[in-house]
This record gives sequence, structure tokens and C-alpha cells, in this order.
Amino acid sequence: MSKNTFYLTTPIYYVNDIPHIGHSYTTIAADVLARYKRARNSNVLFLTGTDEHGQKIQKAAQTGNKSPLEFVNDVVEKFKTLWNDLNISHDDFIRTTEERHCRRVKKIFQQIHENGDIYEGEYEGWYCIPCESFWIESQLKEKKCPECNRAVEKVKEKNYFFRLSKYQKNLLEYYDKHPSFVQPESRRNELLQRMKFQIEDVSISRSAVEWGIPVPSDPTHTIYVWIDALLNYITALGYDDDPQTFHKYWPANVHIIGKEILWFHGVIWPAILMSLKIDLPLKIFAHGWWTIEGQKISKSLGNAIDPHSIIRSYGTDAYRYFLLREVPFGSDGNFSYSALIQRINSDLGNDLGNLLQRTLTMIEKYFQGIIPEVPRADDELMMASRVARDTMDHEMEDLQFSRALEIIWEFIGKANKFIEDKKPWLLAKTAESRPQLVSVIGTLAQAIKDISVFIYPFMPTTAAEIQRQLGILENDRPPCLAFQEHFQEGTITRRGKPLFPRIESV
Ligand code: MSP
Repeated sequence: MSKNTFYLTTPIYYVNDIPHIGHSYTTIAADVLARYKRARNSNVLFLTGTDEHGQKIQKAAQTGNKSPLEFVNDVVEKFKTLWNDLNISHDDFIRTTEERHCRRVKKIFQQIHENGDIYEGEYEGWYCIPCESFWIESQLKEKKCPECNRAVEKVKEKNYFFRLSKYQKNLLEYYDKHPSFVQPESRRNELLQRMKFQIEDVSISRSAVEWGIPVPSDPTHTIYVWIDALLNYITALGYDDDPQTFHKYWPANVHIIGKEILWFHGVIWPAILMSLKIDLPLKIFAHGWWTIEGQKISKSLGNAIDPHSIIRSYGTDAYRYFLLREVPFGSDGNFSYSALIQRINSDLGNDLGNLLQRTLTMIEKYFQGIIPEVPRADDELMMASRVARDTMDHEMEDLQFSRALEIIWEFIGKANKFIEDKKPWLLAKTAESRPQLVSVIGTLAQAIKDISVFIYPFMPTTAAEIQRQLGILENDRPPCLAFQEHFQEGTITRRGKPLFPRIESV
């Protein structure tokens, strides 16, 4: 029997600086999936957290004249506040400085050692502090980090190594047998190309970095921050002292990550799990990167917008909608205020907001604000709603969020067209056409209720607001997520303010 659990994760974010749009993108996408899965009755465990060790954090703390712990304690609050303001519904938040994590990481390191996959050696090469990555000379691009194009520093130190090379064959076999392990396919292919060359063993400790988890058998070293970080996905489940929780949720259904950290997740992480003889996650989805007004988000350019400034002006739901609608999940995207405003005015204001306003106004005008009962919801619009739901389900399973939203908006378009076609204002003119008017308006109300269910994972507050205005939700209650459930007799609507008032450009 297949499990009804759904375990999904975001990367754990470095706390060297405050969160920006890029971080919020991954977390929002994961939240949408978590809410969708919960609405489909899965027992969801949604994990996010922060990556708090390593040289980069140590350096940032020094610059800020704080101890690393004081420093991370401050920054982590910024992440937590943002997740709260973005309506993120994570079930657990792991910090790599927590005792539960450090204790388990040490134990796991020991297990890998005992399995014969760790040995002592000397590392000589280059290190990129912002990426916390080791590079060999031939990988550098014009003497810079090939990933972020920043300066690298020469490193020569005695380190512990993980026998990654030993797993090359197994990894290739695994990829072959599990074609959807890494998605999108284009990224899987890039990774496979790279994996066909000789894979080198990787350094998994640092002797020059103090801010980290000490290597159990040799406290003069700290565990390499990437190994420490990757293990969060299982330490949060209590591996290996809480087998019940671990086996309940593992293997993860999906790790959602950004494309730049796919090597760590698609190669190093599976090899570590193979060494520990643990099943691999079912899917790793690497999404694309956002630029801002055409430029890479970077500290030096000073363009890393705090999502708070956007949600203060435009609202959390509009922001969530924009990020997931604007680009297919997996592709790169560009954030611009003009594109955001365009989406708000057209998709959210004109299409969705007006549909609700027009319908509620007609319910008030023709039915004293009471939703008319439709005897059978079997007309075209209701059928279209069922088709939309099935198609949307399909896209959501594939994490194709923008496609799912397109499908919802096609349905919203159909509901708007239904008004134009049926012309309720003409039906309201005669007593003979009253039954038709009842059917048209009742069906519309039903369609809007379905739309609130569809958009809920993306825009939970708007979904609740629609249901409040439809008169089926009391304040502070979670929205009803049952699809095509009939209204109770005598439901009284409560038309409120427009959902997305027009923004007159910046
Ligand atoms: N700490 C590591 C991850 C360890 S996971 C075991 C790390 N942290 S990070 O703070 O740099 O966050 C990286 C993640 O933030 C990316 O993988 C991506 O999910 C998100 N983004 C950061 N900048 C981004 C953009 N410009 N665009 C989209 N997402 C990006 O790497």
C-alpha cells in the first residue's frame, strides 16, 4: 500500500544576510505544494530551516562584530518573520545549530566513517566562501568561482574525504532506472553529462574553520558545512534515534531547490544516503533563478529587494501569485514592478476580482443577496470546472505551478464569458425567464466557490475572502476546500471591497 504521507523540503538558507526574493520563491513554491497536498488529504510534513555554520557565516559575524551564535540568532528571526508574513505553513523549521541536529550529524558522520567511506587526505585547491564550495584549478573560470563568478581563495589543508567516486556507477544506474528523479529533464541531462566524467572524492571537513560541528574523532576539524546542511533532511525526521518518525516520512517526496545547488543534491546527497543504506528521495526539483529588473540579485549591486517592501505595497497573495504565474517552474524569471502591476490589474483585478463583484452585485439585485439554489449542477460551466480540476491536479503533481494557474484562469475566463453569453440582466426582465436566471446566477456562485478552492494553495487569504463574501465562511475560519459542494439553502452573501483594486502604475 502506498503511503499517504508527503514529505517536502526547501533548501536551508544561509543566514549571512536577510532573505530576498529568490529565497522567498522556493519557500512559496513549497508552501503551495504543501497546501495543495493537504487539501488532497495527504499527511504532509513541510520542512524548511536555516544553514548556520561555515566560513561565510563566521566571516559575516566577524564583520558585524558579533559572536557567530549571536549573529545567527538575529538573522534567523528575519527568516521566520518573513515566512510568517508570506503565510508559509511549514510544519518544522530546523536550524543547524540546534542540539537535535548537531548530535545526529556527529553520529551519522561516525556511521559513514565506520562504513569505510571516509579517509584522511590532503586537500589542495580553491575555495569559494560565498558558495562554500571547493573547486579544482581546471574548474575555475578566469580564476573566479564558476558558479558565482566571485574571487576564490587558495586552500591547502589536511581534510577528511568522502569516497564519492565509489558511488559513481551506482548513481548512474540509479539515474537510469529513475528517469524522473531529477527534474526538469534539461537539468537532469546536464547533471548526467557531468557525472559521466570521473567523479572525484570530496572533502568533508575543514581544519581552518571553527564555526561548525566538530568531527567526532578529531575535534581539530569541523564537518564541511554542505555535509552538515544536507543531513538536515534526515536529522529533522529524527534519524536515527526516532525510527518511527523517520520511517513514517522518509523517503522525501520532493526536495525543492534552486538550480545552482543541484550537484550537491543530485550527486553528493544520494551518495551519502547510499553509504548509509538509506532510500533516496523520490524527486529533486531544481527551479530557475530570478533576476531583478534584468540584473542578477547581488549584494554588491544592492538590488536584493526585501520581499516585505513588495508585500506591504501589493499584498502577500499578489506576490505569491506573481512569482508562480510569471514563469514556468524550472525556468529563469525576471522580477519587475511593471510586470507585477500588470498581473495584479489584469489577472487578479479584472478577471478574478470583477467576476466576484459582478456576481455578488447581481445576487443582491435579483435575489436580495441570497444565493439561489441550482437544482442540478450539470451544465457546461460545471463540467468545465471538473475538467479544470482534473487538469490542474495533473499539473500540480508535476510541480507545474504556472500551468496550473493558467488552467484556473482559463476557467475564470469561461465564467466571465458565461455572464456575457447568458446576459442575466435580460433574463431578469421577465417572469418567464426567472428559472433561467436562477440557474445562471446559482451556477456562477458555484463556479466562484470552485475557483476559491482552486486558488487556495496559491492565495490562501484571497480564497478565504472570496468565501467570506459568498457568505460561507465566518471570520478566522479556514476556507472550505470541498470541491463542488452545494451552498446551504438561504446562504446570504456579504459583498465586500474589491479583491484587487486597480493600481495606477508606479
Ligand atoms: N545553504 C545552502 C543550501 C543548503 S540545502 C541543504 C544555500 N543557501 S542559500 O541561502 O544560498 O539559498 C539558496 C537557495 O535560495 C537556492 O537554492 C534557491 O532555492 C534560492 N535562491 C537564492 N537566490 C535565488 C534567485 N536569485 N532566484 C531564485 N532562487 C534563488 O545554498
